[in-house]
Amino acid sequence: MSITIYPVTPDFVAEIGDVDLTRLGDAHVAAIKQAFWKYAVLVFPEQDLTPDQHLAFAEKFGPVEADRVLDPKVNPHRLSMSFADISNLTPEGKIWGEDSRQRMYKAGNRLWHTDSSFKYRPGLCSLLYSRTVAPVGGHTEFADQRAAYDALPPATKAKLEGLIAEHSIATSRRRSGFANFTADEGKRLPPVPQLLVRTIPENGRKSLYVASHAGRIFGMPDAEGRALIDELLAHTSQRQFVYTHRWRAKDLVMWDNRCTLHRGTDYDDLRWVRDMHRATVSDVANTCEQAGIAIPA
Ligand code: OGA
Ligand code: MN
Repeated sequence: MSITIYPVTPDFVAEIGDVDLTRLGDAHVAAIKQAFWKYAVLVFPEQDLTPDQHLAFAEKFGPVEADRVLDPKVNPHRLSMSFADISNLTPEGKIWGEDSRQRMYKAGNRLWHTDSSFKYRPGLCSLLYSRTVAPVGGHTEFADQRAAYDALPPATKAKLEGLIAEHSIATSRRRSGFANFTADEGKRLPPVPQLLVRTIPENGRKSLYVASHAGRIFGMPDAEGRALIDELLAHTSQRQFVYTHRWRAKDLVMWDNRCTLHRGTDYDDLRWVRDMHRATVSDVANTCEQAGIAIPA
């Protein structure tokens, strides 16, 4: 049986039915990839996945990241290193404390971002699987950076061409009020260059590639670069480019980190358990390398 593609919006989000992600034939994988390059967010409801099955599906798109930002020796990890723990739980499975480091750190997920743009080789796509959802709140919003690019005036497009932004997790965490990276964590996370406008190879569409991780633009005075980044984030997060995902348990949602932004929204995280696991697949190379553009010193 072939998969059912049910558009949620004309070309940004689709639900995929008639598929069991643990039993995929080559034709299923090919159809899912086609849909993924057309839309940029796919929702697979009612999937029963073990962690290994979740990873096996992710690996169809490329290598899964296993390097976590917070050193697991200092911050014990509840899940295998192939997963980002998107929950409000301690390693012992209890709801975290109000002042816990994990809670302060993960507040950064409430800012518009794309996963791993602060890594030299950034994220290609992320696959987030919900085990337990909050009864109210805790939605995830997604913004289409391709549509946002298309809507820019020609003069702005021309101005952005070839610009390179500097992305750093320290930048976004500082914005969200978290500043206490250890010296070792800081060393492991130097700022990286990423192209501000990129082309998605599978469909030729141009996309903005901006995020709260971006702090300045090479060759521009700091204040001017920062103002441009803030303006582009505000532009991209306008309502017409945004889809809000309201989670059900056992949803697997995958998104293209190359051309979307996302952010978590509020819920009563000291009361309700929200337990989701994310696998992120690495892109093929740094965005400047992919475009053949020299990396600034
Ligand atoms: C993520 C993320 C937001 C959320 O999983 O990468 O940013 O809603 N999640 O939990
Ligand atoms: Mn994220």
